[in-house]
Amino acid sequence: MNRGLNRFAILVACATFFLIIAGALVTSHDAGLATSDWPLSNGQVFPKMVGNLFWEHGHRMVATTVGMLTIVLLIYILAKEKRSWVRKLGVFALLAVIAQGLLGGLTVKLMLPLAVSSAHATLAQLFFCTTVSLAVFTSRSWIEARRIEEEKGVLPLRYLCTAALVTIFLQLILGATLRHSATWDQKLPTELILAHIGGALAVTLALGSATLTVLRRHKDEKFLTRPAAIALSLLVVQLFLGVAAYLTRLASPSDPQPLNPMISITVAHVACGALVFVSTIVLTLRTYRVLPATEEHSTWAARPQEL
Ligand code: HEM
Ligand code: HEM
Repeated sequence: MNRGLNRFAILVACATFFLIIAGALVTSHDAGLATSDWPLSNGQVFPKMVGNLFWEHGHRMVATTVGMLTIVLLIYILAKEKRSWVRKLGVFALLAVIAQGLLGGLTVKLMLPLAVSSAHATLAQLFFCTTVSLAVFTSRSWIEARRIEEEKGVLPLRYLCTAALVTIFLQLILGATLRHSATWDQKLPTELILAHIGGALAVTLALGSATLTVLRRHKDEKFLTRPAAIALSLLVVQLFLGVAAYLTRLASPSDPQPLNPMISITVAHVACGALVFVSTIVLTLRTYRVLPATEEHSTWAARPQEL
């Protein structure tokens, strides 16, 4: 285990979270077209950060910093990491951040079409998932984890957690489509709101049953109970933020411009959505690390610890 590499991966993951907040602030301020220029802003590398250009150009600067951090992370991984699949994930992270930057530029050039802006919002979550996974894979707790026996004849937890993860990802795509289908001065489409509420119900069922099962079956295994308790708590916060986002968005079309609390609540809802997603990823990865699939019970103990 290389402590420096792990700390650097954590730094990149935290910077990515900050970048997601910076991006959500662009959307909530309706600042995406503060300049219709890209890669420069109004023909300049450093324009005057006034009005909405503060949010749009600020987001580009944070994105550039994260892009550079990702390059350094990849070099660090290639220098210190022996596991080939972790090295490949480092390469994937760099490709993802490049694609994300291009999508950002494309959405500006095409004047924020729904498909491109939603894809940009969704790939942001996938990139965050990648940087968090790199932090998990390089951590001491991952490398030193010991296998745990699971009750026989019950549904393997890893599949419950994977189902929750997929449901959350679909909900993030729905949320992005909902958010980018109407600006602050327009009404959100009812059918998308209903679909997103249905999604919230599905996420609550899937993540609720996965996390409660972890807390019940493995109460002494902090390696599993910690991310489960965090994911469950974040889900509760996210549901409240969702209702608050809905109420403030219902009122925003009659405002003269995007105002608080709508801005802060919608940004918090995007950010907390990202945290629900990554805490579930940490939980799911850890179940794969220490728990067997039911059919593997007999061979589990004999397998080499290759992860
Ligand atoms: C490279 C890493 C990047 C990440 C992780 C990222 C992430 C994000 C996120 C999370 C949002 C908010 C989506 C939402 O609230 O629904 C956003 C919005 C936005 N980003 Fe990025 N971004 C990146 C790079 C860029 C770049 C290089 C540009 C260049 C122009 C850009 C332009 C935009 C624009 C215009 C919006 C607002 C879109 C809208 O309101 O429809 N992004 N970004
Ligand atoms: C499991 C629970 C939930 C998750 C994971 C979730 C996630 C998200 C995400 C990630 C976005 C923005 C996507 C993006 O642009 O990147 C979003 C948007 C939104 N969500 Fe949720 N959501 C949940 C529950 C709810 C609930 C219960 C409501 C209540 C009606 C709600 C209302 C909204 C609204 C109104 C928006 C659009 C906000 C805007 O226009 O700025 N969400 N959701």
